[in-house]
Amino acid sequence: MGRFYIDGGRCLEGTLRIQGGKNAVLPILAATVLNGDVSYIQDCPRILDVFTMIRILESIGCKVRWDDKTLMIDSSSVDSYKIPEELVREMRSSIILLGSVLGRHKKVIISYPGGCPLGPRPIDLHIKALKQLGASIKEEHGFIICEAPKLVGAKIHLDFPSVGATENIMLAAVLAEGTTEIHNAAKEPEIKDLQDFLNGMGAKIKGASSDVITIEGVKSLHQVEHKVIPDRIVTGTYLAAAAITGGEVLLTNVNPNHIQAINSKLKEAGCRIIEEKDRIYLKAPKKLKNIDIIRTQPYPGFPTDMQAQMMAMLTVASGASIITETVFESRYKHVDELIRMGANITLEGRTAIIKGVGHLTGTNVYAKDLRGGAALIIAGLVAEGVTIVDGAKHIERGYEQIDKDLNILGASIRKD
Ligand code: UD1
Repeated sequence: MGRFYIDGGRCLEGTLRIQGGKNAVLPILAATVLNGDVSYIQDCPRILDVFTMIRILESIGCKVRWDDKTLMIDSSSVDSYKIPEELVREMRSSIILLGSVLGRHKKVIISYPGGCPLGPRPIDLHIKALKQLGASIKEEHGFIICEAPKLVGAKIHLDFPSVGATENIMLAAVLAEGTTEIHNAAKEPEIKDLQDFLNGMGAKIKGASSDVITIEGVKSLHQVEHKVIPDRIVTGTYLAAAAITGGEVLLTNVNPNHIQAINSKLKEAGCRIIEEKDRIYLKAPKKLKNIDIIRTQPYPGFPTDMQAQMMAMLTVASGASIITETVFESRYKHVDELIRMGANITLEGRTAIIKGVGHLTGTNVYAKDLRGGAALIIAGLVAEGVTIVDGAKHIERGYEQIDKDLNILGASIRKD
């Protein structure tokens, strides 16, 4: 597995374009199975999770081709409903194929995604909802076998606004008979992007971004062209990176509406932020202020996917900050690594207390998951000396080229 070498102490300055959204494009790629036609996906990020999803789509019969930043997927010759086990293991979010392959074939066999570094990630809400649409589901030898001679629309109430469950229901309901209502649906911007993509291929969905999403089943779908929304977590990561270095950056291809919760915390830390239609400017203070409390929550609350990066930023702020992780059980794998770099962090259950220190020191650290890995790179930007972040593969699951991007802004990072 590759490593990043970060020579700390440089201030980030300049302009950078943000990639298309990982969490937007993955369900969209799953959705391409439904139309039995060609989908053109513009601004598709070239990240490992997308490459894994492409391998899965090819394994079930899709033809896939890149044309610069546009991905073309032809699902007319899809002939399999079995999702290869080794690929599901590589990417837990491949569970999103449950809804789309079921919708297309009325049958899907997929291995159980199991645990992951963020703690147990159950799929009970997905299973319960698909049963409500008429699917029969068996779990045998680690596989989920899901069948439905006919999918019929239903009124579904989610116990928790799960992003993946909301997406799976939308995907399964598009070609179902009758109308499906999802109550307590996830409101993440990626759900709205999926709605727009599906409607572009002829689906009848409304309500995304609100608590209730209504899907009126249709008989067939057609070709579609769609541009993926910008990645709000990559945007937040680069803002936090600029902030920790006392930098000044302009990020383009962003949607400032999608990062209000992040911006408000960066402002609390003393950053000056100017939002324009599709750009955001940040100027950091010489010394960041502490943030009283950050609580991760479903959208529009503060995103759990930005928790680690904000924690890294706060390790050198003045005073103490508190972070409470409410979405995932054990999403603190980066804490020990930050402590190795000299951070002062105490964990009490789901709460982390971060006392700002004068400086961090470069050392060998290990990226155990995607966002935790990005956090270590952020810390490395201000650490004295060289920080070596092992486990680059985790980071490349979601960042197209974090080393090149940060180097454009004046960092000194190389990868081997
Ligand atoms: C998605 C994102 C991930 C992000 C997360 C929360 C993608 C590909 N991934 O993951 O980056 O961190 O949203 O914003 O979009 N839960 C259950 N039962 C279920 C489903 C979920 O208990 O059936 C729990 C999970 O264990 C977790 C919480 O609900 O504690 C949130 O999960 P969910 O919103 O489903 O996240 P994902 O879709 O997996």
